[in-house]
Amino acid sequence: MLAACGGDPPSVLDPQSRDARRVEGLWWVLFWISVVVVAVVTAFLLAAMRRRRAELHVDDDIDTRPVPWGDRFVVIAGAAVPGAILAGTFAFSLGVLNDLGAADERALQVEVVGHTWWWEVRYPNGAVTANEIRIPVGETVELALPTADVIHSFWVPELQVKKDHIPGTVNRLSVVADHAGRFRGQCAEFCGLQHAHMEIVVEALPAREFEDWLEHEAEPAADPETGQAQQGRELFERASCAGCHTIKGDSAAGDLGPDLTHLAGRETLGAGVIPLTAGNLADFITDPQDDKPGVSMPPTELTPRQVEAVVAYLMELE
Ligand code: CUA
Repeated sequence: MLAACGGDPPSVLDPQSRDARRVEGLWWVLFWISVVVVAVVTAFLLAAMRRRRAELHVDDDIDTRPVPWGDRFVVIAGAAVPGAILAGTFAFSLGVLNDLGAADERALQVEVVGHTWWWEVRYPNGAVTANEIRIPVGETVELALPTADVIHSFWVPELQVKKDHIPGTVNRLSVVADHAGRFRGQCAEFCGLQHAHMEIVVEALPAREFEDWLEHEAEPAADPETGQAQQGRELFERASCAGCHTIKGDSAAGDLGPDLTHLAGRETLGAGVIPLTAGNLADFITDPQDDKPGVSMPPTELTPRQVEAVVAYLMELE
């Protein structure tokens, strides 16, 4: 409950798409049914306690005549009514789920691969990014959700229901954002030490802006502008960095960690762990285990001067 008070927690009760509004409606129906059930059960419980007190002669002015309907009351109130409520809410939930946007082959297809503990985002034109999905406003986007390792769950509550990434299969989820904005989400299936630091952001952009971004994102990285950045690029290619990361435009082509071709355009490092700044990036490269314990990336073998050069190079990768 305390965690829900911090920052701006993404909420099912703040829907920003048609599908999310349907889910919110379902949430309120279930909430009010629960309120009524709790109230009725509590009333019966209190009545039973009063009867017991009367039977023990603690309180003599309570009526202890047999319950109307006798045993039939237990069958009706204890089995038939709860059964009917559960069947009714189940049918209603199925109706809502069926009504959510279905997979659509004509929609923009974006692949979102779950990794421990970050998200790889691949677009049909070859653009690859991480942890921040950009989509055009008002258009249906179909997300394919494979996983590179364990089960994860993609959940951006203001846009859609959650859906799992399951090894060996690819689930699909269609997403439409009503208006421009940033919608935060979170891996919703426990997937290891840094499960809580597996944040995803969906940013909806006006169509034109989205097209420009997507085109730029597919381009190779620009050549370094300064001598220090040039040195950083050479170090990046020579050191262990290139074994795990890809930067299109230089020789780094590893596929274990996020593609860094346009790293400087992102807002955070480590899937939402810290904001992306030159200082934070230097700290992260020096000892990633300090910022994100358990992450696959090992501490660097580079000297502080060399790390500075690599950071200068990476921060140019807009
Ligand atoms: Cu990925 Cu929890």
